[in-house]
Amino acid sequence: MYRTHNCGELRAEHQGTTVTLAGWVHRQRDHGGVTFLDLRDRYGIVQVVGDPANPALAGLQNARSEWVLQVIGVVRKRPEGAENPNMATGQVEIEAVEIQVLNPSKPLPFLVNKDEDTDEAIRLKYRYLDLRHERMQKNLILRHHVIKFIRDFLSEQGFLEIETPMLFKTTPEGARDFLVPSRLQPGNFYALPQSPQQLKQLLMVSGFDKYFQIARCFRDEDLRGDRQLEFTQLDMEMSYVHRDDVLAVIEELFSQMVPALLPEKRLLSSPWPRLTYIEAMERYGTDKPDLRFSMELFTLSDILAESEFMVFQSVLRAGGVIKCIVVPGCSEYTRREVDELTTLVKELGAKGLATLALSAEGIRGTAQKFIKPEEVEAIKARTGAGVGDLVLFVADQKAVANKCLSALRILFRDRLKLADTNVLAFAFVLDLPMFEWKEDEQKWDAAHHPFTMPKMEDLPKFETDPSQILSDAYDMVLNGYETASGSIRIHRSDIQQKVFQLLGLKDEEIRAKFGHLIEAFEYGAPPHGGIAPGIDRLVMIFTDEPNIREVIAFPKNQAGRDLMADAPSWASDKQLGELQLKLDLRKDEDKK
Ligand code: AMO
Ligand code: AMP
Repeated sequence: MYRTHNCGELRAEHQGTTVTLAGWVHRQRDHGGVTFLDLRDRYGIVQVVGDPANPALAGLQNARSEWVLQVIGVVRKRPEGAENPNMATGQVEIEAVEIQVLNPSKPLPFLVNKDEDTDEAIRLKYRYLDLRHERMQKNLILRHHVIKFIRDFLSEQGFLEIETPMLFKTTPEGARDFLVPSRLQPGNFYALPQSPQQLKQLLMVSGFDKYFQIARCFRDEDLRGDRQLEFTQLDMEMSYVHRDDVLAVIEELFSQMVPALLPEKRLLSSPWPRLTYIEAMERYGTDKPDLRFSMELFTLSDILAESEFMVFQSVLRAGGVIKCIVVPGCSEYTRREVDELTTLVKELGAKGLATLALSAEGIRGTAQKFIKPEEVEAIKARTGAGVGDLVLFVADQKAVANKCLSALRILFRDRLKLADTNVLAFAFVLDLPMFEWKEDEQKWDAAHHPFTMPKMEDLPKFETDPSQILSDAYDMVLNGYETASGSIRIHRSDIQQKVFQLLGLKDEEIRAKFGHLIEAFEYGAPPHGGIAPGIDRLVMIFTDEPNIREVIAFPKNQAGRDLMADAPSWASDKQLGELQLKLDLRKDEDKK
C-alpha cells in the first residue's frame, strides 16, 4: 500500500497512529541532528521529523525539493510552542520510522513552495509543475465543485445531460470557425462547434424539454484575458418556457451555489437586479456593468444645451451627448493625473476630457472657465457631486461617451478600491438589440444569433428601422463581465425568414447553412429558449483571478499557442497527403 492517509487529514486525534504517507518534498531543513521535512499532496502539507543518522531515514537527508517520498511514521502532537496555527495539520507531526524515495526530481525551473512572479511563458511550458501550486490546485478543485454542483442541481430539476458532436458544421455565434479536414470526403471540412446552439434546439424538436451539457466550445478569435480559443459553457435549453422561466432556473442555481461553495462571498442582492440594455448603457455606459459600486454616468445635454463651450455646442449640434461621472475625493488631482485620464479617453476615440474639480477653495478644472455658476449648481443637483469630488465630462456621440466613461468607471473602481471583492453582483441585462450594423461590411448582423426571437411588438420595424428592434435575448452579468447569454428562440418559420432576409442571406445559403434546422422546425417545433453561462469566466471571478488561464488546466497563451506541447505544429506530408491537402505557404526549409 502506497499510503494509508493523505498529507492534509492528520489531526491531534490521530496521535499514536502509525501512518504511511506519500507525496512531494515541499520544504526541508536541518536543525542540529533533526531533519524537518514538509510532505505535500493535493490534500495538504504535514511535517515529518527524524534523525538523519538513522539508516532507515537516509531519504530525509538526501531528498531535495519535489522528490517523491513514501514515509512510514507515527503521528505525535507537536511539543508545546511548536504548533503552527497556519497549517491545518499544524498540531501534529510525523515521527518517521522509514523513508523510501519513490522518485527523485531534477531541480525545478521554478519554485512550487512559494508564490513568486514566474514568467508566464515558463509557467505554461511547465504547466504540469505550475499546477502543483496550492493556488492552481485550489482553482481546479473549485472548478470541479462548480461543475458538480451544476450537474446535481439540474439533474434534480429534471434536466438531462446530452452530448453533442465536436465534428459538426459551422454554428452561428459570429466568430471564425476552426475547420477540420475530412479524409473520407477530401476537400470537405467539419467545423468545431462555436457552441451547441443548433443541436440543442434540435433536441427540443426531439422532445428533450430540459437539456443541459457541460459543453466545450471552439472559436477562432483574438484572445483576451477572458477569452480562450476553446472554453466551456454550461449550455442549457428548455421547451415551453418564457424568458423568466429560464432566468429563474439560472438565478436559483447560482444563488444556491454561492453559499454552498463560496462561503466567504455573498450575493449583492436577492432577487438579482434586472436592467434593460438601454438602461445599462445609459447608467453605466456598458452592457456588462459592475454593480458592486455606484459611480453612475449622468447625461447633462439638457443642462449644458446653452453652454458657452464651443466643443459642447458642436457635439450637441451633431447629435451627440454630454455625459459625466463623479469621482469621489479626487478634486485635488494634478494636471499630470488629469492628462493621464485624457490620454486614456483619447485612445478610446474621444476628442478630449473636460474636468470640474469641486475643491474646498472653489471650482477648478478645464471646464471651469466655460461653465456658468447656475450650470454648476444644476450639475451638482443632478449628480450629487459635492466638495472634494472631480467631475469628468466627455462630449461625443453616445457610443463614444459611454465607452470612455465606462472605462474610467472601471479604472477608478480599481484605483479607489470601490468594489468589495467578496461581493458577487449577479444581474440580468434584458431586451438586447436584435441586430447590429456592420459598418465595414455595410450589412446587418445578428447581435446574439439569428435564431433569437425579436420582440413581437417590434416586428413592424423590420421594414422601417431594424436598429430599433429589440429581442427576447438576455445576458447574465457579474462584477463587470458578461458571464452568460441566451434567448427565447424563433419557432415560427415566417419570422425566421424575415430575420434571414434582413441579414442578407440568400435562400441557397440558408439551406446550405441551416437547412437541417429550418426543416426540423417544420415538424412541430415547441416554443423554446435557453442560455449558456461561461464556466471559465465564472470560476475566474469566483477565485478572484485576473485571467481565465488561471482556471483552465492547459490553456493557450495570448498568441493561441500551447507552449507545453508546442501546438499548433506542422502536419507531416503523409498526413496532408491523406487529406489531399497542399500548403502553399510552406517553405522548403521548414520541411522536416
Ligand atoms: P455566447 O456566444 O454569448 O452565447 O456565449 C455564452 C457565454 O460563453 C462565454 N464565452 C467565452 N468564454 C471564454 N472564452 C471565449 N472565447 C468565450 N466566448 C463566450 C461567455 C458568454 O457569456 N449559444 C449561445 C447561448 C444561447 O443562446 O443559449 C452562446 O454561445 O461567458
Ligand atoms: P480645447 O478647447 O480643445 O483645448 O479643450 C478644452 C478642454 O476641453 C480640454 O480639457 C479638453 O480635453 C476638453 N475637451 C475637448 N474636447 C472634448 C470633448 N469632446 N468632450 C469633453 N471634453 C473635451
